[in-house]
Amino acid sequence: MIIEKAYAKINLVLNVTKKREDGYHEVDFLMSTVKLHDKIIIEKAEVDEVICPRAPFIKKETNLAYLAYLKMKELYNLDGNIKITIHKVIPVSAGMAGGSSDAAAVIRGINKLYNLGLSYKRMAEIGAELGSDIPFCVYSKLARATGRGEQIDLIENNLPNAHVVVVNPGVALSTPKVYKSHVIEETQQDVFMVANATDFTTMVNALHNDLEKTAIKIEPKVKEVMEYMGEKYSERMMVSGSGPTVLLFTDDAKQAHEMYKYAKKKYKYSYYTEMRK
Ligand code: C5P
Repeated sequence: MIIEKAYAKINLVLNVTKKREDGYHEVDFLMSTVKLHDKIIIEKAEVDEVICPRAPFIKKETNLAYLAYLKMKELYNLDGNIKITIHKVIPVSAGMAGGSSDAAAVIRGINKLYNLGLSYKRMAEIGAELGSDIPFCVYSKLARATGRGEQIDLIENNLPNAHVVVVNPGVALSTPKVYKSHVIEETQQDVFMVANATDFTTMVNALHNDLEKTAIKIEPKVKEVMEYMGEKYSERMMVSGSGPTVLLFTDDAKQAHEMYKYAKKKYKYSYYTEMRK
C-alpha cells in the first residue's frame, strides 16, 4: 500500500500572456504549494476502483486521478487492479489544482507501487497529457511554469515563511470558463520579483494574478469573500488561480488563526495553512 500527499497549489504570480491557436493560453506562472493536502491511498485490489468518501459526487469517469491510473496502466502494461482512495480536503473546482494534484500523486504512487523507476521529468510528461497543472503537481516544488503551464523549471526556494488563510465560498468555478472570458492585459509581473524575495513584505507586495479581475467579474461570491475579509483585515489578499478561492497572507501565526476563525464564521470551507518549501 502506498500513501501519497497531494498538496494544494498556489500561484504566486499568474500571467496570461496570449491566446493560442489550440484554444489554450500561453502563461508565465510562479507556482508553489501549501501544506493543505488530500491523502491518496493506493493499494492492489480485485477490481479497479476509485473512492472519494468526502466528495462522492466526483464521477469515476471524469476523475483525473483515475484517468492518470488508467494512463499508467496502459503505458506500462501494469498487471492486476488498483483501489484508489482519495481523502479530499482541498476544495473542489477552487483554483488550487486539487484534482491535478490527486492525479500527480497517483502517478508518483503507481511509480512506487510497481517499482517503475520513472524520473520526475517522465512522470511530468505523462501528467501533461492529462492536464496543464499536473506536471507542476508531480514536483510540487517552487517552479516557474510556462507554455500552457506544463513546462516546469524548478527554482531554489529561499522564500520567507508565510501563513496562508484559504477562504472558499463553496461554489465551483470552472477554469475553462474563466480563461474564456479573460481579456489579456499588459499588466504582467516578472516572476522573479517574487521568486527572489527573501523578506515577507517584498514577497507579498509582488504577488500577482491576471485572472483575478475575470474571476471577480464572473463569480460574485469572490468579491463577497474579499469584502467580508477586507472589512476586518488589511493583509495581502489574492484570488487563487482561476478562483473562486481567496488567499490571505500573513507572517504572524496568531493573526492567521484569528483571520481563519473570522473566515470560518461565514465560510465553511476556510482553512489555515502555511507555504511549503
Ligand atoms: O489543461 P487542462 O485540461 O487543465 O485545461 C482545461 C481548460 O482550461 C482548457 O481546455 C482551456 O480551456 C483552459 N486553459 C487555457 N490555457 C491554459 C490552461 C488551461 O485556456 N494555459
